[in-house]
Amino acid sequence: MLADSTGSFPKLKGGYQTICNEVVCFISFVCDLVKIVSMKYLSLFLLLNFLALSSMQTIADEIYCQWTLRQDDVRLYIDKPLCGIEGRAEAGRQLVKQRENTNCLACHRMPIPEEDFHGEIGPPLHGVGNRYTKAELRVRLVDEKLVNPDTIMPGFYRQPDHNHRLLGKYFGKTLLTAQQVEDILAYLVTLKDDRL
Ligand code: HEC
Repeated sequence: MLADSTGSFPKLKGGYQTICNEVVCFISFVCDLVKIVSMKYLSLFLLLNFLALSSMQTIADEIYCQWTLRQDDVRLYIDKPLCGIEGRAEAGRQLVKQRENTNCLACHRMPIPEEDFHGEIGPPLHGVGNRYTKAELRVRLVDEKLVNPDTIMPGFYRQPDHNHRLLGKYFGKTLLTAQQVEDILAYLVTLKDDRL
């Protein structure tokens, strides 16, 4: 049965109209009830999903391992791998190429010929594995400000509470994870050739 432009149903003879209206009313009431109940479950389902995801995120972000800075004369170093993690050089090479998060190539020339546009703000990293030990490179990646307070190089693994000036998703977090820092270090120590 079709409603006319005023939204009411065409007149039927006698009491049929009321019966019809009641039937339609009842059906739409049942439909609404089903809708309400399913929306409730849907929103509960979405809420639970969201909570599960956000708690996973928190756990992943919370794995910050404190590091200890050491010094021999003027040599600064962090000898223990972050969180005791073993780095993978090939993963590190992929990471330094990224234009988000690391963006090393914005400031450094590196022996990565497949990438265009290497920066000149920092020193070229060719042969950096000859100039520094892994423990010394760790300081530079964790927080170059410990070496040079005026540097513009970001501290990739500063203590999260020291990062309160960072906005958005980095608020109170490190820029890179311990695994990423260790991967990059594993790659940097392979750079033994000074030639540009
Ligand atoms: C915004 C620019 C910038 C970015 C991004 C940057 N650096 Fe640097 N980096 C510098 C500058 C400038 C120096 C020179 C030292 C200083 O300023 O204290 C430096 C120094 C270094 C050094 C010491 C080199 C030496 O010969 O003394 C290493 C190693 C290094 N950076 C690695 C990296 C890696 C790896 C990345 C990416 C994860 C990176 N940097 C990202 C600017 C940057």
